[in-house]
Amino acid sequence: MRDLIHIGRRPQPQAVAGLSHEEDWKQASPARIQEALRHAMAKGAGGWFVLDASSRVGHTLQRFEVSGRELVAWRGPSGLLVAPAACPHMGADLSCGSTRDGKVVCPWHGLALGEARHGAWAPLRTYEDGILSWVQIPGIEPLTDAPVHPIRPEKSLAGVIRMEVRCEPQDVIANRLDPWHGVHFHPHSFAKLRVLEESPDSILLRVSYRIAGRIAMEVDATFDCPSSRVIVMTIVRGEGEGSLVETHATPIDTARCAVIEATVATSERSGFLAFARSSLIKRIMAYFIERRAARLWVEDAMYAERTFALRQGEFTEIRQRPEALRSRAP
Ligand code: FES
Ligand SMILES: [Fe+2]
Repeated sequence: MRDLIHIGRRPQPQAVAGLSHEEDWKQASPARIQEALRHAMAKGAGGWFVLDASSRVGHTLQRFEVSGRELVAWRGPSGLLVAPAACPHMGADLSCGSTRDGKVVCPWHGLALGEARHGAWAPLRTYEDGILSWVQIPGIEPLTDAPVHPIRPEKSLAGVIRMEVRCEPQDVIANRLDPWHGVHFHPHSFAKLRVLEESPDSILLRVSYRIAGRIAMEVDATFDCPSSRVIVMTIVRGEGEGSLVETHATPIDTARCAVIEATVATSERSGFLAFARSSLIKRIMAYFIERRAARLWVEDAMYAERTFALRQGEFTEIRQRPEALRSRAP
């Protein structure tokens, strides 16, 4: 593509392996994508589910639905608390209550509930990894002590989006296991994209992403799934080496899923550390990171909803243009 102006490293050959010479639609083999998805799904996730960015969870009473469970989240004296939202007395929705002395107070008859068990009601295990808040729900799959998440760069700028999509987690993961759609479905963001290596556990690609208009930057990146509910893109060569995009899929119920995507950007450039220390700059950068991620996910939501609808035997056309769906982005 002659009209691109590349910044960062000089563009490398786009085709270095036999596979990468083929047209995208041929490379995007449904059988290979399904095989990679099967590998990811077999890993399990230890019963851990991402709720949202830690900065957005529990500072006021919040209601979440995770895998058909209705939950309430708030912050107590020792940190994040997540518990069943139904009051153990007569079932009121605790997320409509208030907090007092680190406890949630039921809106119907004033029962105050905190870290201690009350009959069958008890807070669930939670985990905060510095960027995201997690809850562990027993009875779904074998449990682990802590969730699996990638090792993140120490000095970084991060942004997190959360979006609800009408699909299952596997549709979110499968969307990311198909990088070949990038240039065709998101031409505003990807100028060139070739898969260089592929196995059921990892994909290596070379991508030129658009910074603005004709200005693009080329990097090599991998996609892999550390658990059944997350797929991680890592920049392995080029500007921003070590930067990550973690796409987490948390089921809401059997037909809805929350996509929580954390972008963790880093750079070896001098000045980045000072840059990353300023809280104002962090907030401004988070805004731009989240805007870009949301734009892609508005489109990828259509993709995931379409694959889910087809699996359900629904032949409804999903024809909304991205502009029509943009209101769903945070
Ligand atoms: S329903 Fe909660 S105190 Fe009665
Ligand atoms: Fe996409």
